[in-house]
Amino acid sequence: MATVTFTGLNMPKDMTVYAVAGDTGTLLALAKKHDIPIPFQCQDGECGSCLVKVTYLDGKTPMAIDLTEKEKVTLSVNGKLNRDLLEAAENAHRPPPYRLACQFIVRDETILVEFSGEPGVE
Ligand code: FES
Repeated sequence: MATVTFTGLNMPKDMTVYAVAGDTGTLLALAKKHDIPIPFQCQDGECGSCLVKVTYLDGKTPMAIDLTEKEKVTLSVNGKLNRDLLEAAENAHRPPPYRLACQFIVRDETILVEFSGEPGVE
């Protein structure tokens, strides 16, 4: 089971939600399902509005590492993904801190998701 805690400056308090095993939905879909106010526009990895910071909390090897090509481009253009961070994600299983909620596939792990409530600002 995935355990996802959302914390946003535009939320009155943190909220933890659970996704059943095998759920392959995006982080943005999970947030929308639970009325978590992560900003979004395109929902297709191109605008950067859904920028979040993800911290892995369970001490295991992170699973949700794979970035889509659109996510790589958009994060890079916005200064949130450099060559070192990309190489670490692709070769050393160390996920980058910033992700796009509409591209991030939720896995069975415990994560903290931080966002500001301002589009494109973590
Ligand atoms: Fe546009 Fe996620 S909503 S990149």
